[in-house]
Amino acid sequence: MYMVTEYGKFDDAKREYVITNPKTPFPWINYLGNEDFFGLISNTGGGYNFYKDAKFRRITRYRYNSVPMDSAGRYFYVKDGETVWNPGWKPCKTPLDRYECRHGLNYTRITGVKNQVRASVLHFVPLGVQAEIQRLTLTNESAEKKTLKLFSYAEWCLWNAATDGENFQRNLSTGEVEIERLGWTAIYHKTEYKERRNHYAYYSVNCPVNGFDTDRESFVGLYNELSEPQAVLDGRSTDSIAHGWSPIASHFIEVTLAPGESKDYIFVLGYEENEEEKKFVNEEKSASMSHNNGLITSLGEKDHHIINKERAHAIIRRFATVEAVEAAFAELNALWDELLSKYHVESSDERLNRMVNIWNQYQCMVTFCMSRSASFFESGVGRGMGFRDSNQDLVGFVHQIPSRARQRIIDIASTQFPDGGCYHQYQPLTKRGNNDIGGGFNDDPMWLIFGTTAYIRETGDFSILDEMVPWDNEPGSEVSLMEHLRISFDHVVNNVGPHGLPLIGRADWNDCLNLNCFSNDPNESFQTTGNQTEGSKAESLMIAGLFVYCGRQYVELCKAQGERTKEEGLQAEAKRAEGHIDAMCKAVEQFGWDGAWYLRAYDFYGNKVGSHENEEGKIFIESQGWCGMARIGADKGMPEKALDSAAQLLDSEHGMVLNWPAYTTYHIELGEQSTYPAGYKENGGIFCHNNPWVIIAQTEAGRGNDAWTLYRKISPAWIKDQDLHRVEPYVYCQMVAGKEAAKPGEGKNSWLTGTAAWNWLTISQHILGIRPTYEGLMINPCIPSDLKEYKVTRKWRDAEYIITVKNPHGKQHVDQPTVLPYEPGRHEYTIEL
Ligand code: GLC
Ligand code: GLC
Repeated sequence: MYMVTEYGKFDDAKREYVITNPKTPFPWINYLGNEDFFGLISNTGGGYNFYKDAKFRRITRYRYNSVPMDSAGRYFYVKDGETVWNPGWKPCKTPLDRYECRHGLNYTRITGVKNQVRASVLHFVPLGVQAEIQRLTLTNESAEKKTLKLFSYAEWCLWNAATDGENFQRNLSTGEVEIERLGWTAIYHKTEYKERRNHYAYYSVNCPVNGFDTDRESFVGLYNELSEPQAVLDGRSTDSIAHGWSPIASHFIEVTLAPGESKDYIFVLGYEENEEEKKFVNEEKSASMSHNNGLITSLGEKDHHIINKERAHAIIRRFATVEAVEAAFAELNALWDELLSKYHVESSDERLNRMVNIWNQYQCMVTFCMSRSASFFESGVGRGMGFRDSNQDLVGFVHQIPSRARQRIIDIASTQFPDGGCYHQYQPLTKRGNNDIGGGFNDDPMWLIFGTTAYIRETGDFSILDEMVPWDNEPGSEVSLMEHLRISFDHVVNNVGPHGLPLIGRADWNDCLNLNCFSNDPNESFQTTGNQTEGSKAESLMIAGLFVYCGRQYVELCKAQGERTKEEGLQAEAKRAEGHIDAMCKAVEQFGWDGAWYLRAYDFYGNKVGSHENEEGKIFIESQGWCGMARIGADKGMPEKALDSAAQLLDSEHGMVLNWPAYTTYHIELGEQSTYPAGYKENGGIFCHNNPWVIIAQTEAGRGNDAWTLYRKISPAWIKDQDLHRVEPYVYCQMVAGKEAAKPGEGKNSWLTGTAAWNWLTISQHILGIRPTYEGLMINPCIPSDLKEYKVTRKWRDAEYIITVKNPHGKQHVDQPTVLPYEPGRHEYTIEL
């Protein structure tokens, strides 16, 4: 069934979102690749590629935040008589007779039809391959013979995307290429290859060409735009060789198609690395190559550094035929069949099925791979893998490929400091903590417990706790991962303030609640500027809730591991931890309760933040969510009261805002939060990431109807107005403008957000209620009373559970959760509410 909307529709059977109008309210993108080689691709073909690290191994160039929007990408130009057009509409924007973009799971197919010529391009990254394949199919749908001119276009980035933007005076003199014509035609980008780099990129097509260009100015024209490249207007390329300036890769192919005839071209845009001693072909061979094989290089005869291209050749040869491309594409789809089979729901609600079975899980893969680095809102230069972000992301992903989550946990823990503190981010390429981004966020350590325990509950693999993991990547400093967890827990214990609540440090989950910065200098960043922690009384109720919730996960882990290993110390450790958790609960009840909701914080001076006594920022969502999930003060009805207050004061048509009322003036003692205009980002925006905390707290309180209502408010499948929402209607975005904003409901920062993992946890484990535990698979639904029945297939470790939940009496939760023991094999159960 299609859900018809203005710009596109879901095609659930194909697991695709189909865009039918290229002028979407914002570029609607997709991600190619899910291992090491990635591409971002918009619905008009915009975007770029990188290998592992969007900062250090950028392969093609992109211009962010530019005019016109989304104006760089992999583009194909078709010249048919005097008409020039692109299958994805951009950059020429020649009106198409038909346009369609299908974003699928790690692939995108863009089709344009103009004057009875159809061009369809399938983009994907085959498994285990470091290249984007572009299969372009040209079809003559007319009754006459057509002669067409086809041009490809990609612009190289000179590897380091940061210096490419900030020190381009150097880059404008370093660009080097090679062109190879061996039946196929490949253009190689080899800037800096002769010295310290052992990697190169290439862009090939599986046929001879009529010409090529590797110099941007020659192809485009100095004062032309990409919508009017001079070579395309002239109908022939210039065979330009780049010497510095801006190297590009463009193939020019002339093709004649009989009526009804179709032709396929396979383009490969790839990246390879060579061992130091095998970087170059020897001189003799290179001399003969340039004469016999039409090899041309920037340095011509003087080039002693011809790339050894064996690796690229292997890929180009492998994908020489349509059959090979189809086989690799089938493999990618089979991987997704397999990944999505681990958790599958069947219900009468097609939107619920769509989110659970396709899009939410897909987004979890993307956030796992990208953290917050590369999107159309994140440059890929500024941020690497977040310590807290990645721990949360892996919780949404661990059921898909547990081994990769395991490695991620080790990588993250390896950047930790011996006192439990953390770099806020690390670079995926080097796996080193990133000093420029700073640290001192006192919530960071607890997330390692959150991530690790989720991994063990999913896999039963307690051996990860024995892994020896260094501090700050320092060889020789290794201790067990279990020790990292203990020290993470104690980082909070060792850093409490005057009320016995956790000191906030630079900030907690809310990066912008900077209670110790006191920044009055517009040239410094709140995230890295000096932190006045000396004498600070700034405490966080968010960390308090996090500590209690994840601290209990630590206790549970100690007990389970203690039982397995009979290590006595672990039961004692569990007791010790419980003592600290109890103390924290007491501190929250005594000093963290404002009467009808949980306070948010105490500031540097010990004044309340998020209290009815404050004029603005009276109530915050994070503490209601975390203290509510942890059910602090449950015997006094605190969680329920807090949820009622949140519903009354924070809720809106599009979800719950982060704080209310939003700040309208700068509070130097609160930091960046109060710099945002009211209703945006961390100042009264609907920060989708934290809504699930409230939803889970609602399920913990047995409020299935409330949980379901809030879930649907932020879930993309229920977006009503795509023009208002603007960003992709198939994935969560980080922020939707809040009720005090100029345009409530307008989304921003799509794709890379902890919202994906948290909503996955929420819907899969807390609403539908299928939850892995150490003892077995817990069934604990908390659902809307009108959901009468659903069936979940859950592959868990070596078992497959088929669970039917029936709700004939319109209840919202079960009285007692059921725990199904872990047993390999296939099991069917029916549970009635
Ligand atoms: C560039 C730099 C300058 C440097 C010179 C030689 O002009 O701006 O600082 O000395 O290159 O490397
Ligand atoms: C961004 C950051 C995340 C932080 C959140 C709230 O999403 O990536 O780490 O928790 O903002 O400030």
